[in-house]
Amino acid sequence: MLINQIGSRVKNACNLTGTTHPIWLAPMAGVPSVELSANIANSGGMASCGTILMQPEAITQWCQSFKSRSKGALQLNIWVPDAAAQRNIAQEQKMREFLANWGPEVDNEDANLTPPNFDDQFDAMVAQAPTLISSSMGLFSQQQIARIKSAGILYSATVTTVKEAIQANKTGCDLIIVQGSEAGGHRATFKQEEAQSVCVGLLSLVPQVVDVVSCPVVAAGGIADARTTFAALALGASAVQIGTGFLRCPEAGIPEAWAREIASTRPEDTTLTKGFSGRLGRSIRTDYVHALEADGLTPCPYPVQRGLTGKMRSTAAKQNDIKGIQAWAGQSAMLARNAPADEIALRIWNEVHASLIGS
Ligand SMILES: Cc1cc2nc3c(=O)[nH]c(=O)nc-3n(C[C@H](O)[C@H](O)[C@H](O)COP(=O)(O)O)c2cc1C
Repeated sequence: MLINQIGSRVKNACNLTGTTHPIWLAPMAGVPSVELSANIANSGGMASCGTILMQPEAITQWCQSFKSRSKGALQLNIWVPDAAAQRNIAQEQKMREFLANWGPEVDNEDANLTPPNFDDQFDAMVAQAPTLISSSMGLFSQQQIARIKSAGILYSATVTTVKEAIQANKTGCDLIIVQGSEAGGHRATFKQEEAQSVCVGLLSLVPQVVDVVSCPVVAAGGIADARTTFAALALGASAVQIGTGFLRCPEAGIPEAWAREIASTRPEDTTLTKGFSGRLGRSIRTDYVHALEADGLTPCPYPVQRGLTGKMRSTAAKQNDIKGIQAWAGQSAMLARNAPADEIALRIWNEVHASLIGS
């Protein structure tokens, strides 16, 4: 019975999205590898691109480059914008002094990071007509959702609680992405003040979201192999999104030091930190993350902290030095394999599929 339900859920999600298997690439801003996306899409899964850091022209170029390599399914993802940050010059000064121990001197102006214009990014995404556009950190407005749908694009929101799932469901999502607290990268929580205090794991979250929403659910967080995929599908998910599990793929192109560290990162070696951007995300507990925790210094709000850490992060990435790299990773980091992404996705799906039909 359970096996039949899994099979029909997966089939529905694949039919809806034009995919042939449910192992999808999680959107990962800062890892904009067209090749990684194309390999997943060409294997029959859904590719993705996290566009939050990209100027509109870069979004257009990325999509064109993807389309020249794959005709497969594509998700574009963006964060719902925040109110302007409350600046605290004394806090910024202390943070600049701290960061000077971890990279080049930080200038006053580094704090003045201006994110790309959301409306222009949104226009660029809709113009590219991907399979799906998803929000993180909140919901799009009804007007924006209507634009997505009238362009024939599927719409999805990322949620981290049952309450958020109910809100998302009311907006008429075609799919709901459920992000468990195991997940690598930023937590997609609607209210940032709840991101730390309300941390729900995927085992509790997926079935209870499935019970209250009327669309298929995509599970993300800690999924990286056939066992974790099968578990998420058994809990009620119709597809899975894998982030960290694809970061060791050669085509992901991340610094070798980060990829190497992922291979030996146990669940307890990751932690939630605001130290890179000012927003909470799950990272490897690197020396920098550990020192910031130990120092007790409060990170500046987003995007000020992101601006202040920019030089440290880019220098460390160039120097392949894990100490200052923004080393996002989920709690299943050690399950990530160093192999081409299409091979990993198909290996996982073949194993799960064999269990589904073999019973
Ligand atoms: C490097 C990195 C960047 C990420 N960027 C985004 C993003 O731009 N938008 C988003 O919704 N989620 C982002 N995430 C979260 C993923 O979409 C996904 O929820 C997470 O990777 C799932 O957990 P896993 O890493 O254990 O597979 C990011 C995750 C990582 C590891």
